[in-house]
Amino acid sequence: MKRTDFLVRKDDFREYRTAEADVSDLEDGQALLRVDRFGLTANNITYATFGEAMSYWDFFPASAGWGRVPMWGFADVEESRVDGVESGARLYGYLPPSSHLVVTPNGIDPDGFVDASPHRSALPSAYHRYLITENDSFYRADTEDLQMLLRPLFYTSFLIDDELADNGLTTRGPVVISSASSKTSLAAAFMLAQRDGVELVGLTSARSADFVEKLELYDRCVSYSDIASLGGGPAVFVDVAGDGEVRRAVHEHYGDDLAWSMAVGATHWEELGAAAGDLPGPVPTLFFAPTRVEKRAAEWGRRGLNDRVVDAWHPFCEWAAGWLELDRGEGFEALERAYLEVLEGHVPPDRAKVLSLGV
Ligand SMILES: NC(=O)c1ccc[n+]([C@@H]2O[C@H](COP(=O)([O-])OP(=O)(O)OC[C@H]3O[C@@H](n4cnc5c(N)ncnc54)[C@H](OP(=O)(O)O)[C@@H]3O)[C@@H](O)[C@H]2O)c1
Repeated sequence: MKRTDFLVRKDDFREYRTAEADVSDLEDGQALLRVDRFGLTANNITYATFGEAMSYWDFFPASAGWGRVPMWGFADVEESRVDGVESGARLYGYLPPSSHLVVTPNGIDPDGFVDASPHRSALPSAYHRYLITENDSFYRADTEDLQMLLRPLFYTSFLIDDELADNGLTTRGPVVISSASSKTSLAAAFMLAQRDGVELVGLTSARSADFVEKLELYDRCVSYSDIASLGGGPAVFVDVAGDGEVRRAVHEHYGDDLAWSMAVGATHWEELGAAAGDLPGPVPTLFFAPTRVEKRAAEWGRRGLNDRVVDAWHPFCEWAAGWLELDRGEGFEALERAYLEVLEGHVPPDRAKVLSLGV
């Protein structure tokens, strides 16, 4: 059979196409998933940005020079040659922007399974799990859109808040969060704001400032051009923009009074290399959610971690539903249009893209 793929050129993200590829017949131990729906935000563009450096292209291989940008969403089991994985089951997990995905389920339990396909074995395990919606405590049929869009980002933000608190960094002066209008930043701020004594500063672009201010989540909103107004240190920097010039300006502003610099994201993906060279203050430390997942899953158990995140998720999901507008699209042409809008940063911060492949 054939599957349809949305492909991006690895060396030029502005070049993309939709193409067909062969899918080999299922072998014993494999299942065929039909990709149904997924969300598309700057996070997915970051998977492309770090496609080579962090192996994101390796999850869903494509023909030479082209990549399939990973998405988070829902798929249905179309055919199964595995005991315990039933045809018709609905799953949440890491998916290609393709009509179909063949998986090799392993570690099957009532909650779901992991894909043990050999090409994925060296990649971080947090991306391998497919959860059966029926037994998933995050799942509510009426919030599927918000789950696809926000669940992976919220999970990260829960862990950012957890790591900062664990290291005594939530009250070492203000926590300054760049790309303050992004869903990841808002979720981190939502979590941090629930702690005593935390001062939150949202650092954002002039075009997003009104939106950030109106949410009243941060104590203060500062635009990238006004970093000099941040005030004295100490402070903690949570860098979701990944913009070289913004990072340099924050480090130069606080100098050695910057207590921690956490490199989380790269929403400003074309400015990553700007203003390179040695920075004053602490060396930025990469925050990689899957590493923190492994640490907390080992300490709290996978279920213990999940229960804590679920408890925090439902209030966040309700809050986000109050302001987030969804742009729904169907089919690969809609996916192409949505991808380009997200790539170019043309999606206003109070909106987000949800795609159904409708095959
Ligand atoms: N380290 C980890 O484990 C981890 C896990 C999850 C997510 N993340 C990262 O967190 C970041 C945020 O992802 P998200 O999905 O939450 O983002 P999002 O909600 O789609 O963010 C949109 C915001 O990003 C900025 N932006 C987006 N595209 C831009 C462009 N082309 N040029 C300039 N600004 C642009 C704007 O913010 P401003 O105007 O406020 O700058 C915009 O409001 C991503 O880089 C993602 O990879 C990291």
